[in-house]
Amino acid sequence: MKNLRKVVEIIDPIYVMEGAGVRLQRSIATQKLDYLDPFLLFDHFGSDDPQDYLAGFPMHPHRGIETVTYLLDGMVNHRDSMGNKGTLEGDDVQWMTSGSGIIHEEMPRPYKGKMEGFQLWVNLPAKLKMTTPRYQEVKSSRIPEIHSEDGVVVKIIAGEIEGVKGAVTEIFADPMYLDVNIPVGSSFEQPISQGHTAFAYVFKGEGIFGESDEEAPDHGTLVKAIKMAIFSDGEYIKAKSTETPLRFLLISGKPLNEPIARYGPFVMNTTDEIEQALTDLQNHEFVK
Ligand code: CO
Repeated sequence: MKNLRKVVEIIDPIYVMEGAGVRLQRSIATQKLDYLDPFLLFDHFGSDDPQDYLAGFPMHPHRGIETVTYLLDGMVNHRDSMGNKGTLEGDDVQWMTSGSGIIHEEMPRPYKGKMEGFQLWVNLPAKLKMTTPRYQEVKSSRIPEIHSEDGVVVKIIAGEIEGVKGAVTEIFADPMYLDVNIPVGSSFEQPISQGHTAFAYVFKGEGIFGESDEEAPDHGTLVKAIKMAIFSDGEYIKAKSTETPLRFLLISGKPLNEPIARYGPFVMNTTDEIEQALTDLQNHEFVK
């Protein structure tokens, strides 16, 4: 029998201020959860009040990581030291590999009064921390969607379902990044590579993760929005909506098991490498 992953921890996001004054909900990179190897940060931004985000994220550097922005609503104007410039719109994804160094700006704007999205940081292994920066922007129309008979809709940002590959590929951590919509009374199962870290970020409705049968000796866990549920190791996960539709991000990746030295937007393996990043920035040698 295959090994079902269980919820081992539920994280309540906390409000933090970032950038030039953006109010957001953070689940990874907090006092409670510094990181979840290979994931270094997880933020949920968005508000009905533009004052919560208009200040944005003016020019700032990154080194040693990848940042993944998935926008649900609104727009994000961006530009960077590689010469990329554009606007992310609803359901677009930007997967940025900072490698040796990138300086960029991310400015959220409302569209029809709305603005909501997520940013995930994925660690790079020591051998790729100083790799050439790379940038993948994926328009919503290029993100594959799977529809099941009982109404479940899954957007595949990264990873693979039933032979359908996600839009973002060739990422070292071999990540899976799915946006899962489950209507009332439907359920969903998804294999996840054994040994990979996995979590569900429930941002709409509620559902049971694990065994949903009330009679089952090992009953699953009810998770309500907005919470992050971290899974034990295993081969697959199961989710079932209850009285409301359930929507969550399902994210997994291969742990690096390497030392982590982090300082703001730089995540390296040693404090010497962090000092080097600061020196490079001071000497205008940050962007290679
Ligand atoms: Co950034």
